[in-house]
Amino acid sequence: MCGIVGFTARQPMSVRVLIDGLKALEYRGYDSCGIALKQKDGLLVQKVKGKVSGLEEIIDPSITGICGIAHTRWATHGEPSVINAHPHQMEHVTLVHNGIIENSEELKQELQSKGYVFHSQTDTEVACAVIDDLSKAYTDKIDILHKAGFILKGSYAFAIMFDDEPNTIYAVRKDSPLILGISDNASYLASDASAFLSETSLIMDLEENEVARLYNGEIEIYDINCALIHRSAYKSTLSLSDIQKDGYDTFLLKEIHEEPAVIKKTIHHYLQQSLLDLEQTMPDLSSYNRFVFIGCGSAMHAGMIGCRLAGKYARILCSAELASEFRYSDPILSADTLCIFVSQSGETADTLAAMRLCKDKGIDTLAVVNVLGSSLAKEAKFTLYTQAGKEISVATTKAYTSQVCVLALLVLKKAMQENLLSIEQQNIMENQLKTLPLLIRDFMSNTNVERFAKHIENAEHAFFIGRGLDYALSLEGSLKLKEVSYLQSEAYAAGELKHGTIALIEKGTPVIALITDPMLKDKTLSNIKEVQARGACVLLMIREDLYTPSIEADETILLPALSDIMQAVASVVPYQLMAYYVAKKRGCSIDQPRNLAKSVTVE
Ligand code: M6R
Repeated sequence: MCGIVGFTARQPMSVRVLIDGLKALEYRGYDSCGIALKQKDGLLVQKVKGKVSGLEEIIDPSITGICGIAHTRWATHGEPSVINAHPHQMEHVTLVHNGIIENSEELKQELQSKGYVFHSQTDTEVACAVIDDLSKAYTDKIDILHKAGFILKGSYAFAIMFDDEPNTIYAVRKDSPLILGISDNASYLASDASAFLSETSLIMDLEENEVARLYNGEIEIYDINCALIHRSAYKSTLSLSDIQKDGYDTFLLKEIHEEPAVIKKTIHHYLQQSLLDLEQTMPDLSSYNRFVFIGCGSAMHAGMIGCRLAGKYARILCSAELASEFRYSDPILSADTLCIFVSQSGETADTLAAMRLCKDKGIDTLAVVNVLGSSLAKEAKFTLYTQAGKEISVATTKAYTSQVCVLALLVLKKAMQENLLSIEQQNIMENQLKTLPLLIRDFMSNTNVERFAKHIENAEHAFFIGRGLDYALSLEGSLKLKEVSYLQSEAYAAGELKHGTIALIEKGTPVIALITDPMLKDKTLSNIKEVQARGACVLLMIREDLYTPSIEADETILLPALSDIMQAVASVVPYQLMAYYVAKKRGCSIDQPRNLAKSVTVE
């Protein structure tokens, strides 16, 4: 939700460590930001509304400090403003925070009665006061932070400076990520390692409710009993090129172009020789008679694809659920149900809460996640990692396609366990899995998706239609378009549009139609005729073997002919490219769309 970075060093270090760290974390939120830097003559605190570039404008880049903390925010409590930006200060304590303090209102009243005066609308300022208040009664900072953990309800990652230990940073986390880094001369903390990767790739985990003390470039970690513990450092798998644009104008475009390699890597991770490898690389699914796919946003769309494929190939009862609805729906789940949680970050609050609900009910859980060691990965009974690598663009592309890949393989495993996939079908799948990355690469180099964009860029709204799997893909296409180009769009099951929404179709309204299923081709074509009769501008994406010149559309893109399992992975790519081109023509902030954040750790 928000990004945190901090350091302590033996010798003063440039403020750039914090600024560059914040820039790497901007994908986590970018409505305001700030730093607190310990200099020889005191603590420098600077905050601005807006992006880190605004902070750069007011901070002298030559200044140095012995330690510092910084924050980039995605507002939850209180509007984006300088007063609500972090760091927050309360008497002797300065801190930055990621997460939500759920009992902040009641704590605030209590603290006000003790004389604390609050200036911001944030829950963070309340947490700051709680810690300051404790520091009046206790001296040991580790003890104070453990005690604060009993008072503060909700989720948090804090980086904290106390006035009486001016060269030290304390860190503590619960249900929010925070990682530590160590180099010869300095120690670091951040929401993720990309923030300090240019300084060090040696990292250390900080577990839930542990407290870290960073001082003079060293790190000490204390467990829940306030006992000092040993924690080994290890090398981050992130490389600098993972967090650079590598010549592309945006991370979105770079990450779309990484999809062939990511798909190859993800497939190879689970299947080196044949589909039989899935026997070893994926959990045994034979005891499950029902799958429930759960996620939010694009991850939920990937779950919808998994659900459709599982129904068709594995003939298993299944459903796809929005995590934020599922968790409050008092779901009926039997012991033979496997709940499958899909999440790039592995930290999405609603998805995590939905998983915990299932675990409380004794239901088996499986996480499909991209981030190693994330909360979902740690808490699930089974975890299947996608191999998308670091995804920086807030709008997901390669992480989504790798989720669909993993779910497709999971479905194939279940279908084989149920003896529902003939040897011939297995061979076809294996061949297509091998050639899929190449096909997508060829498609990207040979297809001009940009010509779709000119029909959409000035539209008021757009519609995406498709049936079956194409409907699930349309939902993702529509989400991509609206989140990066700010153009209102809706996806409809093609047969559903005429039940009301067709009233919005007028001359020139873009309708993006997807046809990949031979069984549903004629039905969707009829729906296309219906919107054409009302003046719609139809942009058609159709499997090449289903296309005939008699099919009328304003623009047509031919998709490679694949089985629907592979089609589900490949067909989203033109949608992603289209969203990129439309956003570019409309001059939008493509990698960091307004109001969004990459990881949604609040409900
Ligand atoms: O990290 P998660 O996959 O759990 O995130 C879920 C959604 O917030 C996410 O998929 C979101 O919809 C995409 N970033 C949109 O492109």
